[in-house]
Amino acid sequence: MPTLPYDKTEIETLIRAALPREEGLQRTVIRAMREAVENGGKRIRPILLFETCKSFAERRGETDWKEEAAPFLAALEMIHSFSLVHDDLPCMDNDTLRRGKPTTWYVYGEAMGTLAGDGLVLEALTVAGRAVGQSRHPERAARALAILGEKSGVSGMLGGQSVDVEKTGEHLDATTLDFIYRLKTGALLEAAFMMGAALGGASEAEISCAEQIGRAVGLAFQIQDDILDETATEAELGKPLHSDEKNQKTTYVSLFGLEAAREAVRQQSEAAEQRLREFPGETETLAALIAYLTDRRF
Ligand code: IPE
Ligand code: IPE
Ligand code: MG
Ligand code: MG
Ligand code: MG
Repeated sequence: MPTLPYDKTEIETLIRAALPREEGLQRTVIRAMREAVENGGKRIRPILLFETCKSFAERRGETDWKEEAAPFLAALEMIHSFSLVHDDLPCMDNDTLRRGKPTTWYVYGEAMGTLAGDGLVLEALTVAGRAVGQSRHPERAARALAILGEKSGVSGMLGGQSVDVEKTGEHLDATTLDFIYRLKTGALLEAAFMMGAALGGASEAEISCAEQIGRAVGLAFQIQDDILDETATEAELGKPLHSDEKNQKTTYVSLFGLEAAREAVRQQSEAAEQRLREFPGETETLAALIAYLTDRRF
């Protein structure tokens, strides 16, 4: 089984440091929030943000890029974790296993699960907003915050989830499915590349290239997620198999079959790797991550 070609220790530490401390009368919701983020996860979005930022900042010989990237990679992972906490709720996918552990709502109840998800978004805003005020490059940080908001909200992840929910049980055509994938999953991956580029001082044209890479990676990533929903084991995935079938979701696999789905993953991942060559600096790590993501078994 391929493993993530990356040492996540530093990223994990940065994420943990940005989370609120479990104290006060409201500590139950904080514990639920911390567990939802700390309970494993590949950390792919923060890693991609970190490595993209490095690629752009080092071109300028800048050495302060880690401090600039840290609050934003944590905020992005908090928003991703919020999206998973709410995605698992009984009113959404009704799943009880995530990252090999019982889901937040299953442990804490629906009300606290909903609040923990909301809490993560608002904490992400707090952390990123504070970072704009403290940044040595406030215009870059403000751009990163705007990208985070846009790619999380109605034009991004939340918009995609809303169409996914609305169309559940319906037979979808390829265009609608593509729209859902680009938003519900692609948007936060686009955000990872774009925010990293913005924080590293990239131009708008370079941020737009980062967006295209994220879009291709996002499509490949969600199609691979559909493939795994049918072909992996629960132990590998850490989430229930056949969740899509249970929820009567049209997926790339149900629409085109496994082989065509695998081919689409290959094509999108190749497109992403091609465009990656336009990034300055060392991109071997990013290329290895993209290759891993589209060949993963969990
Ligand atoms: C799961 O995302 C949700 C999708 C967008 C398919 P990840 O596969 O990145 O989940 P974790 O963070 O590693 O658990
Ligand atoms: C969800 O897609 C993407 C999100 C924005 C959370 P799925 O519903 O397929 O994700 P998993 O399989 O539960 O991780
Ligand atoms: Mg879902
Ligand atoms: Mg789900
Ligand atoms: Mg899935």
